[in-house]
Amino acid sequence: RPPTLQMEHRSFLGQQNCRAKGGAPGFKVAILGAAGGIGQPLSMLMKMNPLVSLLHLYDVVNSPGVTADVSHMDTGAVVRGFLGQPQLENALTGMDLVIIPAGVPRKPGMTRDDLFKINAGIVTTLCEGVAKCCPNAIVNLISNPVNTTVPIAAEVFKKAGTYDPKRLLGVTTLDVVRANTFVAEVLGIDPREVNVPVVGGHAGITILPLLSQVKPSFSFTSEEISRLTDRIQNGGTEVVEAKAGAGSATLSMAFAAAKFADACMRGLSGDAGVIECAFVASEVTELPFFASKVRLGRSGLEEVCALGPLSEYERTGLEKAKKELAASIHKGVSFIRNS
Ligand code: NAI
Repeated sequence: RPPTLQMEHRSFLGQQNCRAKGGAPGFKVAILGAAGGIGQPLSMLMKMNPLVSLLHLYDVVNSPGVTADVSHMDTGAVVRGFLGQPQLENALTGMDLVIIPAGVPRKPGMTRDDLFKINAGIVTTLCEGVAKCCPNAIVNLISNPVNTTVPIAAEVFKKAGTYDPKRLLGVTTLDVVRANTFVAEVLGIDPREVNVPVVGGHAGITILPLLSQVKPSFSFTSEEISRLTDRIQNGGTEVVEAKAGAGSATLSMAFAAAKFADACMRGLSGDAGVIECAFVASEVTELPFFASKVRLGRSGLEEVCALGPLSEYERTGLEKAKKELAASIHKGVSFIRNS
């Protein structure tokens, strides 16, 4: 590639020494799949985050355009674009946080599992790059099916000898964002005041909202519980069908990913009590990976929180979720071990 494709843009506020606003050292963040439906708005939101000092935008297509566009925003982060596999290593070298929304999204009639073959290959290649170029970076994995791509990433890192479960997080924030919104509609309050823990995994019945633990606490009727659970589990399909062939959730997903990345950076900065839900290596159940509330800190994932008391409805849901999750996790592990 001609060197001009490896661009560097400095915004009006951008400083040569990559410092975040206020003089605190900022974080170096790479987005892999930055030109996609999620990648573009996510690139914009990360460019707006004052904790980011350097933003690397990588994709196999169109990253120069996205980079030029985002770089004109007069915020602090320096933006650089990287195009195609030969530039992956430069995109990753020195990064603190790598966010991966690369892959193909669901089309109507497709399940997340249909995406498996294509996205598994993409995630493998990108994680091999992470293991080689920034083995200490925190990875936020968005590419679906998350229930399988996270175990794949773990296997890739194990093979490379760089695996640290504290640094690999599957992004399930969109399930929480949706749950907060849908519950707020029922309660008639601002969604920012609502907190719904969503545990399990990130596909269909593995998405388990714990409505018995909603803050502010509320006694839902059993009809409300079953309707809300169903809507939260199928929120992705609601968007896929409404978009009618034009992809899956991108804007709400970018918002959710930016929220999660911000929480990771606040944890890395030493902020106390940063709690989010994520799909991580876990001992909360007998499964090796499980989504639940986690505490984020200086080393990434610092604590996986216990599930807390579950209702009868949630206990039944948990058993069903675990069955499906076990199969999805196994699929990811075998994909690498048998390859
Ligand atoms: P998209 O097709 O609009 O964008 C994907 C981008 O990845 C494209 O720009 C493509 O060029 C790029 N890409 C493909 N192969 C690549 C490679 N080897 N290296 C770098 N970039 C590569 O898809 P969209 O809508 O942005 O979705 C991306 C992924 O996120 C999909 O797997 C989708 O299922 C998943 N997703 C995850 C959610 C979650 O909650 N975790 C929610 C919504 C979507």
